[in-house]
Amino acid sequence: MARKPLVEVDLERSPKHIAVIMDGNGRWASRRGLPRLEGHRRGYKALKNLLLAAADLNVKMITAYAFSSENWRRPADEVGGLMKLIAHAAKVELGYMKKEGVRMMASGRLHELPKPVREQFEQDIEETRNNTRIILNIAVNYGGRNEIIDAARKAAGMVAAGEITPEQIDDKLLSSFMYHPELPDPDLLIRTAGEMRVSNFLLWQTAYSELYVTDTLWPDFNKDELIKSIVSYQGRTRRFGAVVEEGSKK
Ligand code: FPP
Repeated sequence: MARKPLVEVDLERSPKHIAVIMDGNGRWASRRGLPRLEGHRRGYKALKNLLLAAADLNVKMITAYAFSSENWRRPADEVGGLMKLIAHAAKVELGYMKKEGVRMMASGRLHELPKPVREQFEQDIEETRNNTRIILNIAVNYGGRNEIIDAARKAAGMVAAGEITPEQIDDKLLSSFMYHPELPDPDLLIRTAGEMRVSNFLLWQTAYSELYVTDTLWPDFNKDELIKSIVSYQGRTRRFGAVVEEGSKK
């Protein structure tokens, strides 16, 4: 069967920053009678397979929710397995990221992570920091409320030290205290596996992001699915709270 061409996507208007909630790994596995961890393994492969496809579609950065601050409440063997998988992936994919020009970043309370994960992340971040093809920002031990709390604590510390007045705490200042203020807010937030929730992901940064929810389970989310999400995004009118004239959709 002939493949559909990429012309559906307007590369000039691709979302620069895509955030993904990679949901459905467990369901993918249980439908096949496999352990949940196998679903997470396939989820990691799906993310890897998307990276360069996204770069080819002119996406400049992806923030992927790999482990939330709430995920510690899962059964100990799943938590341990996920941590091992994340550390393993960060180790074995370093060469790939260097070769392919992927820059890795991380968002979350990284200091609370097990030492092997933290140290491997630090090495990856350092050794890929000059890469420019695409940024992969892994959200790990990440919670949107925690990120806002951490920012609020910094601002409160500045007030307590007499460096600023409470009135000087504004959007710009708090934005500058988020984990990666240099990354623009996500244009598009993708959630797989059908759930219509934000689940404590990038609460500050997704104020005006376009949402795309698909029933596809994360391990099955491939380049064609990514193209569908971008085409959907490109059919929207972004308002950022303002009124947009009829017919001005661009
Ligand atoms: C949600 O699916 C997914 C997670 C909690 C983990 C996401 C992790 C990965 C994709 C792999 C690790 C990533 C890297 C970067 C190495 P779920 O388990 O909640 O699925 P379910 O809702 O079907 O049970």
